[in-house]
Amino acid sequence: MAGKSRWADDDADAQARKREKEEKRRAKAERERRAAEEAAAQQRQREQEALQADDRPTDHRPTKRRRLSEEPAPEEPAPEAPLALLRLTAPSWSPSRRVSIFEQLNHIDEGTYGTVSRVKDLSTGSIVALKKLKMGRIGDGFPDMALREIQTLQECRHAHIVDLKEVVVGTTLLDVYLVMEFLEHDLRALQEDMVEPFLPSEIKTLMLQITSAVEYLHDHWILHRDLKPSNILLNNRGQTKLADFGMARHFSSPPLANMSQLVVTLWYRAPELLLGTSVYDSAIDMWSLGCIFGELFGKEPLLQGKNEVDQVGKIFALRGTPTEATWPSVRRLPNARALRLPSTAPPPPSLRPAFPLLTTAGVDLLSSLLELNPAGRPSATQVLTHPYFTEDPRPKSTAMFPTFPSKAGLERRRKKLSPNAPMRGEAPRFGAGDFGAALGPIGEGGGVWGV
Ligand SMILES: Nc1ncnc2c1ncn2[C@@H]1O[C@H](COP(=O)(O)OP(=O)(O)OP(=O)(O)O)[C@@H](O)[C@H]1O
Ligand SMILES: [Mg+2]
Repeated sequence: MAGKSRWADDDADAQARKREKEEKRRAKAERERRAAEEAAAQQRQREQEALQADDRPTDHRPTKRRRLSEEPAPEEPAPEAPLALLRLTAPSWSPSRRVSIFEQLNHIDEGTYGTVSRVKDLSTGSIVALKKLKMGRIGDGFPDMALREIQTLQECRHAHIVDLKEVVVGTTLLDVYLVMEFLEHDLRALQEDMVEPFLPSEIKTLMLQITSAVEYLHDHWILHRDLKPSNILLNNRGQTKLADFGMARHFSSPPLANMSQLVVTLWYRAPELLLGTSVYDSAIDMWSLGCIFGELFGKEPLLQGKNEVDQVGKIFALRGTPTEATWPSVRRLPNARALRLPSTAPPPPSLRPAFPLLTTAGVDLLSSLLELNPAGRPSATQVLTHPYFTEDPRPKSTAMFPTFPSKAGLERRRKKLSPNAPMRGEAPRFGAGDFGAALGPIGEGGGVWGV
């Protein structure tokens, strides 16, 4: 019988061997843990280095990827061309400041959509204009007009568009205020007080500034839809700024269907809107610009209709009756269906008698802006390059512009006798009877407009 192993017989030795094995296992586990930690640290280091490399805007080029196919390699960028990364700045969010940081100096005006005051910022001492937006009732939601005005002004940065500094709030959800740079005048209030109209050289300067703001808007696919002298501000340094973007909206080419027809204050509203179109483009702003141009010469609004029908009558009296030849799509406009259009009509009356002081180039520019057919009106860019602006007298430099006492800076305005901006709702539809009354004198003789 084989004798027992002397090792197996030795309990103390067996215990020692077991401990030794345990030790070895623990040491191995420790080594593996350290190795894993080291690998993770190296990985983190590599990621950190990659991030730092991304931040370097210099000639740092990404590592080349191994080509897997035999296709010819794409052309390498020129070594000197820096590879810039697209960086998007995220807007920062912070709570709106309270209106209580402003001290009211004087009321300026109350329009259809807001009440404007001249105020002092108590934290900086600067003078600004504060427009309290008319909001409707709590629960109706944030009104379109207010949203449009805030969004458009935030989007637009231009020397001749009023600068929106911030939006502040009052105590309730209905108290929303726009803080804007303050300008001493608006062109309507100013002209009401002027004894003589602006000089031709001054009108050129004003028109160039206003048109450059309109060009900027149209280039950014924005329609103003309420261009009129009371929405054009003027400071005492001869600079105009376009204001009141409550009616503004984006447009497209081709134009969207079903846009609101009830836009633009009546006296500045284009004929296609009055005739009921809901598909329109930047030409509606160009018509308003024509009305403003005419008003700067005459100091009085050019086409002061009492209502929509009367406005159409006044437009046709000034610019003649459209025909199939001069405005081919006019017949399809909802309010024009009841009208019988002539195939031919005398050429539109000249604007010269109404504007005896305007040069031939000036009459040409005004006639093109007040073209009945929207397709015939020039773009803002075309207006800016019109020869009218380069002939004598040249546009007056803003440094030489006259200054005027500022009503907005001192006292409450007297209420102007001009129509308000249109309220929301349906545009009126007209029948033949309505137009019959308005267009009587035009229809006479030729029987041009009738059922
Ligand atoms: N930044 C400003 N600086 C000085 N006056 C201003 C300023 N903004 C507006 N106003 C004055 O307040 C008037 C009304 O402002 P705004 O046109 O923005 O309001 P609204 O209610 O939309 O007007 P409306 O409906 O009458 O066209 C302007 O015609 C102008 O006289
Ligand atoms: Mg206004």
